[in-house]
Amino acid sequence: MSEIDGKVVAVTGASGGIGEAIARTLADRGAAVVLGARRTDRLEQVAGDIRARGGRAIVCTTDVTVREDLDRLVARAVAEFGRLDVLVSNAGISKIGPMADLDVDGWSAMIDVNLRGVLHGIAAALPVFRRQGRGHLVTTVSTSGLKITPTMAVYAGTKNAVRTLLEGLRQESTDGVLRTTAVSPGFVRTDLAGSIDNLEVRAEIQRGIDEFAIAPEAVARAVAFAIEQPHDVEIGEIVLRPTVQG
Ligand SMILES: NC(=O)c1ccc[n+]([C@@H]2O[C@H](COP(=O)([O-])OP(=O)(O)OC[C@H]3O[C@@H](n4cnc5c(N)ncnc54)[C@H](OP(=O)(O)O)[C@@H]3O)[C@@H](O)[C@H]2O)c1
Repeated sequence: MSEIDGKVVAVTGASGGIGEAIARTLADRGAAVVLGARRTDRLEQVAGDIRARGGRAIVCTTDVTVREDLDRLVARAVAEFGRLDVLVSNAGISKIGPMADLDVDGWSAMIDVNLRGVLHGIAAALPVFRRQGRGHLVTTVSTSGLKITPTMAVYAGTKNAVRTLLEGLRQESTDGVLRTTAVSPGFVRTDLAGSIDNLEVRAEIQRGIDEFAIAPEAVARAVAFAIEQPHDVEIGEIVLRPTVQG
């Protein structure tokens, strides 16, 4: 039996792309999943598919920029399934472009979703993990934080901020209660380019996605690998990218 079987996992950004793939993959392996994102209709569709395959899934409309929404997501998991084993903070946007564009609103939006959203998740889940005596925080960061490239400075900055805060949290949590995992994907075939407002940059990223991006299920398998380890084994970082990505 898989270590994932019976675990309760909440996933933000589960209405599409990587988050949806994570939810479907973990549910297929026996996890009960709580799906969070803003588009409730998409979440209902994913949850309906999972249930039709014999899995357990519920929906909780969540905007990660709103702290109370994360509190509600975690509370729903506990109310419905009795506990929360894993929070996958995956929701993210990529309003990338040259810094000279001075897209201050886009920068703020990325900080709000990619960084503050993860902090809201930690604030909601940590007390539950401590009460239970164990828990696992997983987050989707990015290879853009490992190889810094033009147009991605602020996006990569938010991802590296999350990488840093997870490592800090890990250092503060060596009593064996908490595991943390930061997964860094390269180009993945999703709708992420849709959130890029600079049309030239969007077309360039979309070209990369069309030409060589990997499937979101590849990221989901990496997340499953981290979760399925015994609790005394923490997979701190996973980097996965298309074999041909520079
Ligand atoms: N695709 C890539 O190449 C790639 C590479 C490295 C890292 N990543 C990271 O992977 C994560 C998932 O991205 P993706 O590629 O799957 O993109 P995607 O297809 O655009 O999915 C993004 C998800 O985030 C959700 N979201 C956006 N804003 C939100 C908010 N305020 N509150 C709650 N949910 C919100 C969206 O749902 P709603 O719109 O319904 O709210 C959607 O489910 C992101 O953190 C991204 O930065 C992606």
